[in-house]
Amino acid sequence: MQYDVIIIGAGAAGLFCGLNAARLGKSVLVLDHAKAPGEKIRISGGGRCNFTNLHTAPENFLSGNRHFVKSALRRYTQYDFIEMIDAHEIPWHEKTLGQLFCDGSAKQIVAMLVNELAKAGGELRTGCGIRTVGRSDGFTLTTEQGTFRGAALVIATGGKSIPKMGATGFGYEIARQFGLPVTDIRPALVPLTFGEGGFGALAGLSLDASVAAGAARFREGLLFTHRGLSGPSILQASSYWREGDGIRVDVLPSDDAFEVLRNARQSAGRQTVRTALSAVLPKRLAAYLAPEDGNIADLNDAALRALADRLHNWQLIPSGSEGYRTAEVTLGGVDTDALDSRTMAAKSMPDLYFIGEVVDVTGWLGGYNFQWAWSSGWAAAQAL
Ligand code: FDA
Repeated sequence: MQYDVIIIGAGAAGLFCGLNAARLGKSVLVLDHAKAPGEKIRISGGGRCNFTNLHTAPENFLSGNRHFVKSALRRYTQYDFIEMIDAHEIPWHEKTLGQLFCDGSAKQIVAMLVNELAKAGGELRTGCGIRTVGRSDGFTLTTEQGTFRGAALVIATGGKSIPKMGATGFGYEIARQFGLPVTDIRPALVPLTFGEGGFGALAGLSLDASVAAGAARFREGLLFTHRGLSGPSILQASSYWREGDGIRVDVLPSDDAFEVLRNARQSAGRQTVRTALSAVLPKRLAAYLAPEDGNIADLNDAALRALADRLHNWQLIPSGSEGYRTAEVTLGGVDTDALDSRTMAAKSMPDLYFIGEVVDVTGWLGGYNFQWAWSSGWAAAQAL
């Protein structure tokens, strides 16, 4: 069977690229080895899919080339995707920080993409493992469901996170097969672990915190787990953290901790430091950070300042991360230097395209990764 375009990967980027290319009159085949399309969309955002972010801008993405995302994000914006959602009467709401979620279910987004692909005449084959990808007057794919030929090939196989949902390193292998460089890859938007004796005593506790890793700082929720730290602020920071590095946690981002402690000493000097801290921090965390029983009146300004510094600048060295098993995304991917930022085509092979998470473009937590899938998929579709 011969097609204008074969897309491998029926996730967010592949489905969106497919339906747009089909709308433009191309014969399109979308292939996926998983049983169902759009599985990550289905489980995303706790089943409600954080499908974009109102504040999407190039600054919200990590990439070897920070300019690479600009063209696609400018030409297919968050507002374009919202218009499509509205046209399909899928109700949504802003949760926080510009993050848009379905009111109902993420399945509505999957259904919209699959239906629009079919309506435009595109073909979708799931449960279709790919055996070989060959180059001969276009591309020839041998698969579990037969041999297919495409004038152009789009790789939309995503990253390696959540292997039990069908994630593979297939896209990186195809890139290497055709001589395209792939950057180092690593799990990102992932909880950080602290080995034995971590934060067991604090497990389950959550608070508003500001977390810094490298030059980046994020203020959102932080959650103590049996294995370490999680919550949005930690997931965000994990994309900037490297093995052996520390992170810096401010557990009192809204207050001046020294002022809080000094006022407590002045107003009730016979209370313990722990009690004073319990007024502004969860009790268990106050006890963890100030285990001694002495009166706060016994601490001079220097001691209060040292404690305040610990509250604003708590230095922690993670032993690792939870890895691809729970990471929301893969940092790194097909090197953007090898791709045309306007079309997503390989510079060395203009009929081979890479879109979505397989590319070395990683968004922050908050709907940015789906917006990249929509924008890059749309950009490729215009050029196919
Ligand atoms: P995606 O992973 O969606 O699709 C790739 C497809 O390729 C899959 O269908 C896979 O089966 C297929 N495939 C892989 N290897 C193959 C092979 N060898 N042969 C054939 N097919 C193959 N982002 C966001 O913006 N908002 C959110 O709310 C969330 N929430 C979220 C929750 C969880 C638990 C995770 C794991 C991730 C998120 N994300 C997210 C991230 C988001 O899901 C992700 O960035 C996009 O799905 C990437 O879209 P792609 O289409 O590039 O890959």
